[in-house]
Amino acid sequence: MPRSLTENPRWYQTAVFYEVFIRGFFDSNGDGIGDLRGLIDKLDYLEWLGVDCLWLLPFYSSPMRDGGYDIGNYEEVDAAYGAREDLIKLVDEAHARGIRIIADLVMNHTSDQHIWFQESRSSGDNPKADWYIWRDDDSGWPEARIIFTDVEQSNWAWDSERQQYYWHRFYSHQPDLNYDNPEVVEAMLSIVKLWLDTGLDGFRLDAVPYLYQRDGTSGENLPETHAFLRRLRSEIDARYPGRVLLAEANQWPTDLVDYFGSSDECHMCFHFPLMPRMFMAVRREQRLPITEILAQTPELPDGCQWGLFLRNHDELTLEMVSDEDRDFMYAEYGADPRMKRHLGISRRLAPLVENSRPLAELLHAMLFSLPGSPVLYYGDELMMGDNVYLGDRDAVRTPMQWTPDRNGGFSRADFAQLYLPPLMDPVYGYQAVNVEAEYRDQGSFLHWVQKMLSVRRRHEVFGLGSIEILAVDNPSVLAFIRSYYPESSLAVKDSENFAGNLEGDDASQISTSLDFREDSKEGEERCVLCIFNLSRFAQPASLDLARFKERQVTELLGRVPFPDIQEGDYRITLGPHGFYWFSIT
Ligand code: BGC
Repeated sequence: MPRSLTENPRWYQTAVFYEVFIRGFFDSNGDGIGDLRGLIDKLDYLEWLGVDCLWLLPFYSSPMRDGGYDIGNYEEVDAAYGAREDLIKLVDEAHARGIRIIADLVMNHTSDQHIWFQESRSSGDNPKADWYIWRDDDSGWPEARIIFTDVEQSNWAWDSERQQYYWHRFYSHQPDLNYDNPEVVEAMLSIVKLWLDTGLDGFRLDAVPYLYQRDGTSGENLPETHAFLRRLRSEIDARYPGRVLLAEANQWPTDLVDYFGSSDECHMCFHFPLMPRMFMAVRREQRLPITEILAQTPELPDGCQWGLFLRNHDELTLEMVSDEDRDFMYAEYGADPRMKRHLGISRRLAPLVENSRPLAELLHAMLFSLPGSPVLYYGDELMMGDNVYLGDRDAVRTPMQWTPDRNGGFSRADFAQLYLPPLMDPVYGYQAVNVEAEYRDQGSFLHWVQKMLSVRRRHEVFGLGSIEILAVDNPSVLAFIRSYYPESSLAVKDSENFAGNLEGDDASQISTSLDFREDSKEGEERCVLCIFNLSRFAQPASLDLARFKERQVTELLGRVPFPDIQEGDYRITLGPHGFYWFSIT
């Protein structure tokens, strides 16, 4: 039965997102570059997989020196991807399958080829002279860190035409816009509307923390930036209800939650600090990195949601970890210098876990059950590999592998014409790893992901429930309870942070805040116990579930009844990297 769009304006709280690099997804016209029509051709696949919302990487006209994050014209679709009509068709076709679409929006900077910058650099007194940030010397805002430390030496770059320095937080070919100029603010708001009018369901807001600069600050998370986001949100709420803003703010949890405002800024934020800690936890075979960061994560304001992810189109960023943990991550996951990019590791999920299926399943099971909406990266559902010999972050942006045919079924162009070579190595190459083969094989990772998503879809507790970390005697075992009370929109109870009443550096107590309302709908499960073995070896665990005495425990994937909870400890054995999702009824 075809799915239809839910009318719930808070759809994003229970959605599964899928990140698409249009350039690498499917080439419909044989020019070697993926395009919007190609993506339309593959919507049936995405519907089958069970995702609810696509996140499109920037599709705007661009010189493509930073994967399209260097926008040359905000008002046009890049000719290689198609035209505005193709985007409208894509949105309509996706909606007809119950899938929403959000687009990346790069507000912080443009390409130096953008006509605004060309005009701005032409003199000190043209109408766009102050649309960017110009100075006579490069000494301003020394407290602002350099983000691409491996390629840029300064946040200032000299422009020989204007004979001045301009400010940039990323590549020097990406000058920052000047948001202190009200004309820039208005121009950006009209671009937002221009694209929302195509029917898009919202935006992933690229690099939002850096919109403003102020003397004596790091130029991140400034009050002016939050004021701008409130303005943006109010304009969207007024004219485009049900659309979502998802912030890319690579920040510590306490700064991150500010991007939700009082439910009046972004609806969602990526949980950047959690991501590397999931990789750390499985390599250390200890739950501590995860429980520690959950304990530091403040409660979500009403109507908000985390975006959770394992991998994306960028490097596995290590900005939000200590120096010691960064060294550990480089040693464990990025030993070859070619794998290091910017402040992180440019590798895909499967090679990171050495192609271990149980480990890939474990990480995804955590991704699908921790509080937030999971965001998958194209190809990871196949356990696609990477190519560390490619420059910048292209290692993880190779063509999607559809079939074992020429070019992996991605394009009919000559191999030499492809935007990047598809993987052809014996382990991850398209002849071994592709959609066609995995679709036929019921035991494939692709089918496993599809089944997990269909189970997740049946239990809104994963999107809407509160979390409490349970005390477990075995440090290699992570266990938590997600619970949801259907009559209240978000069942976060009595707890200051979303890890319930965690204390110190680990889970030590079980909250007594869980109870069941008598008026909850009959038969609807409200409580899911999730247990994960982070170790390579089988592990026993003993959980204190006394307050659930006499309740029934049912394994969710197979609906298999497990022993009821008796007095005191509930004992479980988990296989290597094993996990369980249990409903407690
Ligand atoms: C995007 C990157 C991009 C950068 C500059 C980011 O945060 O995810 O891919 O290079 O912004 O636009």
